[in-house]
Amino acid sequence: MTIIVDQPPFENGNEEQIQKKREELELVLDGGFSIPHANSFGHNFRDYDVESERQKGVEDFYRVNHINQTVDFVTKMRQEYKKLDKAEMSIWECCELLNEVVDESDPDLDEPQIEHLLQTAEAIRKDYPNQDWLHLTALIHDLGKVLLLPSFGELPQWAVVGDTFPVGCAFDKSIVHNKYFLESPDYTNPTYNSKYGIYSEGCGLDNVMMSWGHDDYMYLVSKENGTTLPSAGLFIIRYHSFYALHRSGAYKHLMNEEDVENLKWLKIFNKYDLYSKSKVRVDVEKVKPYYESLINKYFPEKLRW
Ligand SMILES: [Fe+2]
Ligand SMILES: [Fe+2]
Repeated sequence: MTIIVDQPPFENGNEEQIQKKREELELVLDGGFSIPHANSFGHNFRDYDVESERQKGVEDFYRVNHINQTVDFVTKMRQEYKKLDKAEMSIWECCELLNEVVDESDPDLDEPQIEHLLQTAEAIRKDYPNQDWLHLTALIHDLGKVLLLPSFGELPQWAVVGDTFPVGCAFDKSIVHNKYFLESPDYTNPTYNSKYGIYSEGCGLDNVMMSWGHDDYMYLVSKENGTTLPSAGLFIIRYHSFYALHRSGAYKHLMNEEDVENLKWLKIFNKYDLYSKSKVRVDVEKVKPYYESLINKYFPEKLRW
């Protein structure tokens, strides 16, 4: 099957356009919301209503997210999902399973999610033909969204998608809808609310607890199943929704040298992730053998989830 979606290629976009596009697509891209966004700032009330409704939906989402993503919550989630007792399946099987998730929640996507993932991967492959690990990373980076499915705990949206951020230290001002952190119990906890909190200078992001979601879950699954992906691949998987880091440059004081190197790859990846709803046509059956070979190279045949 092939698809065509109208969108200018991102190569031509400047930072401002990219940012605007990101805000438009924000949670829709991440499989989150079914609230339609206005396609222009119109002069009639209907456009205004749609736009304000959408913004309210996003705000509500982040309010609940910011209040509930605490050190306590993340600790519990990590313990629960480290058991890897939810399913046993291959990477490709999970790609197919993900189709079930996004079909329901994303009104803009009429193609199966697997094609959406392959568009991102194929776009990167075209520009970085020798980085096969990056192609595979693109294919799998969102697989953690299976957390929305009943057999994976059917977690609420705020615990699966949206921007992520560190917990256990002060929340950076650049985090989206920052004001809602005032209602977080961690905000007034002196152990967690200083610049370093429970961490130390240059401790490495690996040692930092991130708000729980599909990013951290897929990172955990990959690591625990012994993937041989390079650390840059794992970095992309874990931090691709960490916009305070890769867009705003926050939390540098927690990074080590390896993080600094890996961040370069994440910035490259992120441009492709944003524009994965491109008009590139992908024939799933045609490219499947290539991605199967990458899966065999970097992952065991069956993974515990
Ligand atoms: Fe994602
Ligand atoms: Fe993505």
